[in-house]
Amino acid sequence: MTDTDQVSTHQSQDDPRNEEILIYVNGALKPKAEALVSVYDSGFMLGDGIWEGLRLYNGKWAFVDDHLDRLFEASLAIDLDIGMTRAEVFAALEETRAVNNMHTDAHARLMVTRGIKTRPFQHPSLSQQGPTVVIIMEHSQPKIPRPIRLATVPHQRGLPMTQDPKLNSHSKLNCILACIAAEKAGADEALMLDVHGFVNTTNACNFFIVRKGEVWTSTGDYCMNGITRAKVIQVCREAGIPVFERNYSLVDTYGADEAFLTGTFGAQTPVGSIDGRQIGSGEMGPMTQRIRDLYKALVAKEAGE
Ligand SMILES: Cc1ncc(COP(=O)(O)O)c(C=O)c1O
Repeated sequence: MTDTDQVSTHQSQDDPRNEEILIYVNGALKPKAEALVSVYDSGFMLGDGIWEGLRLYNGKWAFVDDHLDRLFEASLAIDLDIGMTRAEVFAALEETRAVNNMHTDAHARLMVTRGIKTRPFQHPSLSQQGPTVVIIMEHSQPKIPRPIRLATVPHQRGLPMTQDPKLNSHSKLNCILACIAAEKAGADEALMLDVHGFVNTTNACNFFIVRKGEVWTSTGDYCMNGITRAKVIQVCREAGIPVFERNYSLVDTYGADEAFLTGTFGAQTPVGSIDGRQIGSGEMGPMTQRIRDLYKALVAKEAGE
């Protein structure tokens, strides 16, 4: 890898076993090549659906209740009947896990779309066959070879009356455009501001800075209500680390001692530079490391170790 190679926050170790996985598609478990949805599917045609990314550690789904809460809340918000109870969704995750013989270091993308449409147009009433539910579960060991480089972009995760930033929607075009802009600027991922210009989030993860022993993140009003974000705030509070959800600007950010991203996939990922300015040492800082350890301990506690 050269210094200019791009890195993704969702990069993982190659694992040939992932070619052999079975994928859950509406109750059937299918090999990759046969796990297909219709070109009339609302998700394919319009990005009309919701999803959750979950991780399996030592036989247990981390924070599964939080993920199911968010999924069912989103289904209410977009008026999509999942057609399954919480227990049935959990059973589908378990079935996928069991058939793939996975125990730990595995990641699942659980997707629910409004299903197959009768005609190729937008109106939700054209989705008449019930939802499409897919679970892709892969062996996944995050492997990010260096701290992430961010670039600030003009794209925003906007106000609740446009596409509510708290919806884990299938359509990620806004975030994808942000990521493309960051890549064009030579970075790995985009740092997105809120509608007032305060630092908000990245295109795929929540964002934190560390200043003089304090941990800061955005107010939460304009970003994904990330489960990892909430757990980082929780472990900081429990450990007596001062943590604040507040407005702050790029000035505070460039001058931070550390910065890191949070998400289910990578837990806490260090940020090395933003807009060409090195953050702190440019490597993972001591507070990020401490929070990673606290988070790992919380996951282990959840998994009943
Ligand atoms: C835009 C965005 N921010 C943050 C996150 C991280 O959320 P979580 O910690 O629940 O994985 C995600 C992942 O779904 C996301 O898409």
